[in-house]
Amino acid sequence: MIALGIEGTAHTCGVGIVDDQGNILANEIKMYKPATGGIHPREAANHHAENLVPMVKQAMEKAGLKYDQIDVVCFSQGPGLGPCLRTVATGARALALSLKVPIVGVNHCISHLEIGRIKTPAKDPVLLYASGGNTQVIAYANGKYRIFGETLDIGIGNMFDKLGREIGLGYYAGPKIEKAALEGNKLLDLPYSVKGMDMAFSGIMTAALNHRNKGERLEDICFSVQETCFAMLCEVTERAMAHVEKSEVLLGGGVVQNKRLQMMAEHMAKERGAKMFVPDRTLCMDNGAMIAWTGLVMHRSGIKMTVKDTMIDQRFRTDEVDVTWR
Ligand SMILES: [Fe+2]
Repeated sequence: MIALGIEGTAHTCGVGIVDDQGNILANEIKMYKPATGGIHPREAANHHAENLVPMVKQAMEKAGLKYDQIDVVCFSQGPGLGPCLRTVATGARALALSLKVPIVGVNHCISHLEIGRIKTPAKDPVLLYASGGNTQVIAYANGKYRIFGETLDIGIGNMFDKLGREIGLGYYAGPKIEKAALEGNKLLDLPYSVKGMDMAFSGIMTAALNHRNKGERLEDICFSVQETCFAMLCEVTERAMAHVEKSEVLLGGGVVQNKRLQMMAEHMAKERGAKMFVPDRTLCMDNGAMIAWTGLVMHRSGIKMTVKDTMIDQRFRTDEVDVTWR
């Protein structure tokens, strides 16, 4: 069985093709980059609309397949930005209808977990999903992927980008913050915002900007923001692992490419006799292969969708999906 998956929840347009063993035959990724400021949803959607058809063709060429070899078309149904979701959903419907194959709408957050389960040795992990738009700690329990903790305001990557813009690092600030943090050594006072099992990031940004206005070094601000936020992520993840008694932690999302976060998560896992896994870089970021793979396992478990069922859902919750494939 061969699945083609289309990702388009936010700034990334992705087309991936996988087989039923989890082999990735193609994984085309193109990212929209705003000229100034943050993501403009309509512009990002236009980017996806322009790139989707050529990317499907490229992916098919890379995979060395003919269109009649595609068995199912999958797409990111949510959560995400409305215009982006609608654009890729329309593309996916058109492709599935013209190829006369089934269509499967996939929860984007769940696909980060499923791609880790097939492409790393992790079998039943707690997922620490940290990206621009999402920050969640997810694990399987009683037929659903349940959210054990999440951000109460903005995604951690979104906070990094906003902070980066304010302190002059430009858009897509995560890697620049990571680099600057290596030169920092003074731990500044920032609000450690874990509330129950949830987290908040916007207050940390305000406090960091106050430190900047008082003349603190940029390197120390980046260092302190990373240390504080990553400790919060690891604390919530560790408590989820203890609660559901799981011994694997899986990282997913763009932010987990940060080496300091990986180091802290690995340390936390080791201390409790657990293992940590990080998929390859292109599988951590948003991509079509993870959508294709998750759609394939859903389809294989008997999930059938009509075109009506493929309405997008900007606030698609991880725990709304009945996990029929486990
Ligand atoms: Fe994502």
